Amino acid sequence: MNLILHPTAGLRGETDVPGDKSITHRALLLGALGDGPSRITGYLDGGDCRATMACLQALGVPIDVTENGRCPQRRDLIAVVQGVGLRGLQEPEEPLNCVRSGTSMRLLAGLLAGQPFYSVLTGEAQLRRRPMDRVVLPLRQMGGAGCARIWGRQDGRLPPLSILGGGLQGCEHILPVASAQVKSCILLAGLYAEGVTRVVEPGPSRDHTERMLRGRGIALTTEGLTHTLSGPADSLAALDTTVPGDFSSAAYLIVAGLLVPDSEICIRNVGINPTRTGLLDVLTQMGGAGCAGIVAENERDEGGEPVADLVVRAGELVATDVGGEVVPRMIDEFPILALAATQAQGTTRVRDAAELRVKESDRITAIVEGLRALGAQIEARPDGFDIHGPTTLQGADAVPHRGDHRLAMTWAVAGLIAHGETIVHDADCIADSFPGFVPRLSALTGASTGSVVVSGTEVAS
Ligand code: S3P
Repeated sequence: MNLILHPTAGLRGETDVPGDKSITHRALLLGALGDGPSRITGYLDGGDCRATMACLQALGVPIDVTENGRCPQRRDLIAVVQGVGLRGLQEPEEPLNCVRSGTSMRLLAGLLAGQPFYSVLTGEAQLRRRPMDRVVLPLRQMGGAGCARIWGRQDGRLPPLSILGGGLQGCEHILPVASAQVKSCILLAGLYAEGVTRVVEPGPSRDHTERMLRGRGIALTTEGLTHTLSGPADSLAALDTTVPGDFSSAAYLIVAGLLVPDSEICIRNVGINPTRTGLLDVLTQMGGAGCAGIVAENERDEGGEPVADLVVRAGELVATDVGGEVVPRMIDEFPILALAATQAQGTTRVRDAAELRVKESDRITAIVEGLRALGAQIEARPDGFDIHGPTTLQGADAVPHRGDHRLAMTWAVAGLIAHGETIVHDADCIADSFPGFVPRLSALTGASTGSVVVSGTEVAS
């Protein structure tokens, strides 16, 4: 799929976003370990979550997907996971393929470290380049002195990982970087470990695992940035869940609404868990005199997560400094923040974000490369970047996205404000996290403007 974009004005209308990726992964994993069936309504049918689903099926967990007849528009899919209980997984016959999903690999590594069988986790080249020592080292520590039960290429730094699980001991882990994937990996292993497992984070990463474990009967405590549970757990309750819309997907539509002149849009049913919404805080600071705006309406709680409808109006932005505790709360939103910063008055400085270098791509390099192709003024820093704005962007052919869904969506939004034509080639990776991105963006521009054109496949992808 290639996307061809032209500048537009006046995005209008109501839309929504598919289910949250992080919550869907966890609902599948915890559903698999539950005592009985769990229904996951509005789950994300994206590439990364499909990978988790297929891995769980290969571990002997039956999962069926059905259409939600009652509400076909909004919550269109339900996954029913037939939980096999904490000790009911079966040794997989083949390597488990996590495709391009770091969350699948890191969370499954924790789960599999607790299983008394052998398993291998692998994935595509993009994933096999990503660091796994951050989960391998703590899991080895839980495996007991001198007992390396988890292996990977380059002494455990890179996938594939092979795991011979069982016999875990709880211990304390002080994380060098705030990472929900690492925290969740350790907590899942902690369900199977003897004694106390404790994770101390340097900053607030997304807390869905903690919320969901508690909701399923695990006595997990959180004091500040320290999370503690005692194992081994006897059982995990099965629980039906409704997945809120993914804030990280909404971020593209929010920034489109802010940047495209004369826009006013409403994005319904978006998860606004504060460990995810750092971008809202930063964009609010950038709203300057208050012309641009994002208003959360109809705030409510759904399935243990805060949810709201977000109304976004276009307007002027001013630059800001981004660093410190907000960084893990918006770790996936830096590409789209960078685009917003190109339109802000002044220099936006991003620091403390070296983690961006080990995402689906080196996102600092990729943001600089893509924005320069569009004519922005940006300099890379070891742990972030500086962007000088506002700049009139110029459309470009083949804006590079390195197969990274978040970059591809950022350049698509850029194409709505850049002069001339912007082409994003091979944009299928968008469906890793946001299937339905293109038709939603297209609908907001108004069907007849031709601002978003897809060549090579159907608009529904
Ligand atoms: C995720 C955590 C984040 C994020 C990723 C999803 C999760 O990674 O970048 O897209 O679901 O736990 P880190 O925890 O490694 O920062």
